[in-house]
Amino acid sequence: MDDANLQLNGQDYRLPSFEGTEGEVAFDVSKLRAASNAITYDPGYGNTGSCKSAITFIDGEKGILRYRGYPIEQLAKHSTFSEVAYLLVYGDLPTAEKLEQWRQDLAMHSFIHEKMTRLLEHFPLSAHPMGVLSALTASMSTFYPDSTDAEHLDLNVRRLLGQVKTIAAYSYKQSIGEPVVYPRRDLGYAANFLRLMFATPAEEYHVSEVLDRVMNTLLILHADHEQNCSTSTVRMVGSSEANLYASVSAGVSALWGRLHGGANQAVIEMLERIQADGGDYKKYTEMAKDKNSGFRLMGFGHRVYKNFDPRATILKEASDEVLAELGVTDPLLDIAKNLEEIALKDDFFIERKLYPNVDFYSGIIYRAMGIPVNMFTVLFAIGRMPGWIAHWLEMREDPDGRIHRPRQIYIGPTERSYPKAR
Ligand code: CMC
Repeated sequence: MDDANLQLNGQDYRLPSFEGTEGEVAFDVSKLRAASNAITYDPGYGNTGSCKSAITFIDGEKGILRYRGYPIEQLAKHSTFSEVAYLLVYGDLPTAEKLEQWRQDLAMHSFIHEKMTRLLEHFPLSAHPMGVLSALTASMSTFYPDSTDAEHLDLNVRRLLGQVKTIAAYSYKQSIGEPVVYPRRDLGYAANFLRLMFATPAEEYHVSEVLDRVMNTLLILHADHEQNCSTSTVRMVGSSEANLYASVSAGVSALWGRLHGGANQAVIEMLERIQADGGDYKKYTEMAKDKNSGFRLMGFGHRVYKNFDPRATILKEASDEVLAELGVTDPLLDIAKNLEEIALKDDFFIERKLYPNVDFYSGIIYRAMGIPVNMFTVLFAIGRMPGWIAHWLEMREDPDGRIHRPRQIYIGPTERSYPKAR
């Protein structure tokens, strides 16, 4: 691959090029400003590579998503969330022995500090569980001090992965005023979470095979997605050498927004709105096309996927199966399918390459599982945790790593004097 040559004010600047293992090409502009005084401008970083990474590969044009080389379709079908979490964090699939140890560790670290449970009681009942999750993941740094020692760091990784689901489930319990139950060491990750959500001290909750399987699939599909908004946030915060818990807590906050993880909640709210409005989905596709309406089709479009989102393909199929197996009929699923059908035929959506993304169908499945709407984004956060951790760890070892500090082009007033008399 040839280096690029940039001409600016009659000067030539050589921009060294390099290629990734999948043939992606980049030009290195990191020395450009020092040489030319000019910077590159890329709002939203849509054309900016912020790092080299060996964790996840996405080809948005072809709808490819792979974790550490393994296709998402194979992982969703054959693996478990615990195994995928190990793969993301350590780079390779575990041996049977290592996987068993990992599972036991995650189950052991499912228990949260009693003082944290009491902290939860002080949030208002109406608190959004994402706010609670962000606060409590940051608070973990006060219970489990930071360390650069590899063994200690590894322990913190296991604590974070083990405890995040418990914090999430407890935040739900506190919002409905129900007492919490303790995790069980004999259950897998997904089953443990569902039991923590739905069991009470008075009544045990048996997690069916269907729910266990679908929960694993959902968590696997959300486990990583390279340099998305929340992961870049985790890297950004971590680049200042902030600790793992603080960095990940910032990731939770970034995920919360409607354009990112919050879209799964927004999709259901949109479908409910259409239903309450007589089911006229055509009216809403028209509204989405009208820039002045301020309305977007939630669960549509993606910065990277320009053909289809492979996670949405898996979930669309899964939603039919799961609803059938659970014996649930959901009129929102019909509205979703109609909306998808009409949008996919419409020039506005075709020209802009807007397809259903992962959030379009996940909410339908969560609803069928009995998960309340304000927990949807929390489930995304639990799933994304291994990805955030893997990126945070990778960033620390990056030989090119520096504190993240973009530049800007100032467009405000030029120098003016503060008035003497005011
Ligand atoms: N409905 C209607 N129009 C849309 C939509 C939509 N959902 N998404 C993009 N557009 C239009 C947009 O108005 C623009 O049109 P034009 O070129 O005429 O100005 C064009 O498509 C490109 O949009 P953009 O906002 O520049 O694209 P982006 O890459 O900056 O944003 C996005 C990506 C996902 C934020 C956006 O598509 C969106 O807002 N989607 C709805 C929210 C959503 O579902 N988010 C979940 C993303 S997947 C889960 C995750 O990983 O976070």
